[in-house]
Amino acid sequence: MADDVFEKKLPAPAELNPMTDESLRAAFAGESQAAEKYLVFAEQAEEDGFPNIARLFRAISFAETRHARNHLRTMGGINRTADNLQTAYEGESFEVDEMYPAYREIARTQKNREALRSMSYAMKAEVDHKRMYSDARERALKGDDIADQPVSVCLICGHTVIGDVPDKCPVCAAGAKYYRAFD
Ligand code: FE2
Ligand code: FE2
Ligand code: FE2
Repeated sequence: MADDVFEKKLPAPAELNPMTDESLRAAFAGESQAAEKYLVFAEQAEEDGFPNIARLFRAISFAETRHARNHLRTMGGINRTADNLQTAYEGESFEVDEMYPAYREIARTQKNREALRSMSYAMKAEVDHKRMYSDARERALKGDDIADQPVSVCLICGHTVIGDVPDKCPVCAAGAKYYRAFD
C-alpha cells in the first residue's frame, strides 16, 4: 500500500486564512524536523545498545512524517511536477544566494570552524541541487523526464551527482565508496 494513501484523499486545499496558513507552515516545519531528529536518535539508540528504543524512535518518526505530509497537502504545498520543481529551485536558490552566505559569515566571524564546515558542505551541494532542479524543470515543462541515470549522494557531505561517481568527493574528499546511489 502506498505510504500516502490517506493524504492523497485529503480534499483540495481551501482558501486559507493567514493565521491558519501560518500555523500549518509552522506545524509542517516542526513535524519535519522532529521526524529527522528521531531517525538520528534511533541510530544513536542502536549504537547505545537499545534496539527497542531505536524502533520506537523510528516508528514515531514515521508518524511525524504523516503529520508533516498532511499539513503540507492541506496548505496547498503540493502541485504538478513542473511547479514543484520551481518551488524546489526557489528554496535551493534562497539557501545558495542568501541563507548560507550570511550564515557562513556569522560562523566565520565567530570562529566556529565546525559550523563553517557544516554550512559549507551544505551550500556546495545546494548549488548543484539548484542547477539540477532548473534543468529538470526545463524538461518537465516540455513533458520530458530527465535522463535515466543514477543520482548519487556523498554520505559525508551530501555532494550530489548525476551519472558517474567521482573517485573522490570534490567537496569533502571522501572516496567513491561513500556515495549512496539512487537508481
Ligand atoms: Fe506529530
Ligand atoms: Fe539542497
Ligand atoms: Fe563529500
